[in-house]
Amino acid sequence: MKRIGVLTSGGDAPGMNNAIAGVVKAAEAQGIEVYGVRDGYKGLINGWFEKLDSKFALEIISKGGTVLGSARLPEFKEESVRQKAVDQLKAHDIEALVVIGGDGSYMGAQRLTEMGINCIGLPGTIDNDIVSSDYTIGFDTALNTVIESVEKVRDTMQSHNRAAVIEVMGNGCGDLVTYAAIATQAEIFSPSESKLTVEQICEQAKKFAEANHRSLIILISEKQLDANELAKKVEEASGYVTRATILGHVQRGGRPSGMDRYLAFTAAIYAVEKLIEGKGGLYIGLSENKLVARDIESTLNMPKPDKTEFIEKIRLLNAKISK
Ligand code: F6P
Repeated sequence: MKRIGVLTSGGDAPGMNNAIAGVVKAAEAQGIEVYGVRDGYKGLINGWFEKLDSKFALEIISKGGTVLGSARLPEFKEESVRQKAVDQLKAHDIEALVVIGGDGSYMGAQRLTEMGINCIGLPGTIDNDIVSSDYTIGFDTALNTVIESVEKVRDTMQSHNRAAVIEVMGNGCGDLVTYAAIATQAEIFSPSESKLTVEQICEQAKKFAEANHRSLIILISEKQLDANELAKKVEEASGYVTRATILGHVQRGGRPSGMDRYLAFTAAIYAVEKLIEGKGGLYIGLSENKLVARDIESTLNMPKPDKTEFIEKIRLLNAKISK
């Protein structure tokens, strides 16, 4: 193999640049050239390729986001659109591809593999919603951003004897909420997998108010409740002056953490090894602290683990009111 490509797809995540760097360094060491694709699958169909080298790799390892750019391209589901990508890759003698992104990106990688271009996927998303990987690239950095933000909000809530509703990203996966709730001891939390109703949240908030608890942090996953509306309801029910904070895209940015850099770089090396072995249609994940390569189809069909019992256990501990 003489030449491979690398692209980032879907929502950007801290650590994607380390994955790109890992691909470049591992391939270069084997005498393989690496071409970066601008703006994900969109760049693939338009031939937006540029040669990357180790000097470039060194320059990007501490940067947030993805230096290659990312885009969502729903049309990639169509075979005629994918054929354009295959034609561009062939015209540039690019034989195989590493795709860094969330599960939305893997079907494209699988279909390209079926069309003769071996592709390997790396799990890049802050959401930690890829069932076949214990952690995804970007989750640790985003989690640390959430923790830091919650602690800042706690400082001011504690000063003013208030409650805060804080909305956290995750796109249907509540891990950012659950992990942050454990790390910050948020009194009430409602992750996507085990949502609380408005009434349940208000009832609990009232109990804290009655016990003269000084400040209250209520963490909720995005896409379940309107944070501002919920804050109003909590205020009415509990008497706490309640403010809402939507953390938003601050969670996607920033320098990648050590753990994200490590996962991204080592998974990238593994992906290049698999491409050299002539494999495609695989997805690299972390399972019990070991990198594993599974076929994409089985990855996408893996059942979601039931997290409710664990969440309930933490919930009871966090909700304990000291007398
Ligand atoms: O998948 C990453 C993510 O940040 C989700 O947590 C969130 O729901 C979504 O992307 C936001 O997407 P956009 O940046 O397109 O608004």
